[in-house]
Amino acid sequence: MKKEIKIAPSILASNFSSLGEEITNISKAGADYIHFDIMDGHFVPNLTFGPNTVKYLRKYSKKTFDVHLMIEPVDKFLIPFIKAGADIISFHPETVKNVDKTIKVIKSYKKKVGLVLNPNIKENKIFPYLNKIDLILVMTVYPGFGGQKFMKSQIKKIEKIHEKIKKEKLNIDIEVDGGINISNAKKVLQAGANILVAGTACFKGGKKFYKKNIYSLRKSK
Ligand code: DX5
Ligand code: ZN
Repeated sequence: MKKEIKIAPSILASNFSSLGEEITNISKAGADYIHFDIMDGHFVPNLTFGPNTVKYLRKYSKKTFDVHLMIEPVDKFLIPFIKAGADIISFHPETVKNVDKTIKVIKSYKKKVGLVLNPNIKENKIFPYLNKIDLILVMTVYPGFGGQKFMKSQIKKIEKIHEKIKKEKLNIDIEVDGGINISNAKKVLQAGANILVAGTACFKGGKKFYKKNIYSLRKSK
């Protein structure tokens, strides 16, 4: 199934002193999704924000709120993030006791669900869940910080996942996250990804450049 390319700016790279304004500006500049990196200082070595922040930011944009949970445990925070306005919730399978159960909770609120693969985790780890999920998020850095270097070793994984979902005729998005910029976007899109998360590459240069930054990523295929 041919999919439209979507750009998901990660607000981790925005100016935290005016998050609302940043979200409005990046939305107006053509973002498809707003990517929220939720970090707990435990599953990943950094801290960001929780559901309350997402809730306050909801009124600054009508775009899809794409919530990437890098927290452990996950389950007790699902409903707070859903109530805060998340449209997509992605989690790392190793952070939950029962992947099926967590998927079910998210689905029961009619939200989209994604499974995230860290660079050291093989694609077949999530294959048992393919007919239950909407999205696969392939990490091209070890999560925790923005501005890291893209790991090209992950391209093969994107290709394998793409092959698999094509073969099984599944309607699943492939999103990539970590070090994405105009020099590597083409490679990941050609490998089969259709959603690009980008923090540094979207927010660089300040608000005058947001439109151009997003446009260049979108046109890189
Ligand atoms: C990494 C996060 C990413 C990150 C992307 O832990 O999941 O979403 O913020 O930022 P850049 O594009 O700067 O690598
Ligand atoms: Zn992320």
